[in-house]
Amino acid sequence: MKVLVIGSGGREHTLVWKIQQSQQVEKIYCAPGNAGISQIAECVPIAATDIKGLIKFASDKHIDLTVVGPEIPLAQGIVDDFQEKGLKIFGPSQKAAEIESSKVFSKYLMEKYHIPTARYESFDVFDRAEEYVKNSRSPIVIKADGLAAGKGAIVCQTKKEALDALRKLMVDRIFGDASRRVVIEEFLQGEEVSVLAFSDGTNIKTLIPAQDHKPIFDGDTGPNTGGMGAYAPAVFVDDDLLKIIEDTILKPTIKGMALEDRPYRGVLYAGLMMTHEGPKVIEFNCRFGDPETQVILPLITSDIVPVMEACIDGNLENVTLEKANQYAVCVIMASGGYPGSYEKGKKIIGLDRIVEKNVKIFHAGTSRRGDDIVTAGGRVLGVTAMGLTINNAIRRAYDAVGKITFDGAYYRKDIAFKAL
Ligand code: AMP
Ligand code: GLY
Repeated sequence: MKVLVIGSGGREHTLVWKIQQSQQVEKIYCAPGNAGISQIAECVPIAATDIKGLIKFASDKHIDLTVVGPEIPLAQGIVDDFQEKGLKIFGPSQKAAEIESSKVFSKYLMEKYHIPTARYESFDVFDRAEEYVKNSRSPIVIKADGLAAGKGAIVCQTKKEALDALRKLMVDRIFGDASRRVVIEEFLQGEEVSVLAFSDGTNIKTLIPAQDHKPIFDGDTGPNTGGMGAYAPAVFVDDDLLKIIEDTILKPTIKGMALEDRPYRGVLYAGLMMTHEGPKVIEFNCRFGDPETQVILPLITSDIVPVMEACIDGNLENVTLEKANQYAVCVIMASGGYPGSYEKGKKIIGLDRIVEKNVKIFHAGTSRRGDDIVTAGGRVLGVTAMGLTINNAIRRAYDAVGKITFDGAYYRKDIAFKAL
């Protein structure tokens, strides 16, 4: 098979790395990819959002399977457009991707199908939203309806913060049309866990639960980022709890999507809060998580390509998804200044010193400059290690981080410590 992976981050490097291990795959392209991906796949300079360009490429090269990484092309309807041209593609349709691209829709779905989530109201008139906030208790969470690159949810500790956030979203429109409507919801407390599942529209195969570390600083402090590290399996979710998550959240969601005439085929990401009343949904994403993918896929021992094909063909019950009995830890090395402004083009030193079998460096924001690999984004590398114990995996990951340097490199020192 010839496979095309769309995207350019650590998630896509991990997808390419995993797909490359498939017996069925003979050639992998990645659009647009990064410096790490270019070592194992042919990168082509087509943007992830250039759907016309991607269709032309997939047709010209006779691509057998396209796998979409990021949410934006999915929300643009890339899957519908590929399928119209008879091209095989893994991911949800535009209507199904609304589970991520519209918080108002995902809240409606959860309410209708009794899927546990935070209590909420949605608004498209500022005065009404303002009045609602004035009559609510804080902390409270205000979310832009549409896609906002992971920055659209604002946790407000006080009423004043909430009113400021509301004004920024609805009046100043800091996220453009994405914040024309807002969801205002109850603040949930507990441990956050990401549970992802493959679905063919009817059946699910649940992946290993993972924990992301979103805030920039140790101890989960400071502003949120795209994710500063992750580990799996998440120690807060045992088999009994995973069954509850499947029965009360994942299965009813897939069933609800089918009943809404939006059959969900692809990977569904449930961001959950483990509250004292049980697991509740914080958000759904219509794609693999980043950096969760960097710890989930290395723990899958089965070939992933037949699983993706089964999601498309509607026979997921016929494939197996075997998991390794190990732990994986991913520490993100970021550019100094991230998630604020940062410089690019810093030479990365030490990548060739990583030779351990249980360590894998997934590139996120990197590019080539002559013979050098240089930084090209906020999150630069996902240093990932496996181990029979969480302690081993943590030690291996940080040993590897210690061998890599670039000007201004920043990383959290406590990734996965909450599992100890
Ligand atoms: P989201 O973009 O919806 O995933 O939200 C980003 C982050 O904001 C989440 O990972 C949580 O840490 C936090 N968050 C979102 N919604 C809530 C909520 N209802 N209660 C507490 N924290 C939340
Ligand atoms: N790690 C969070 C996300 O992928 O949305």
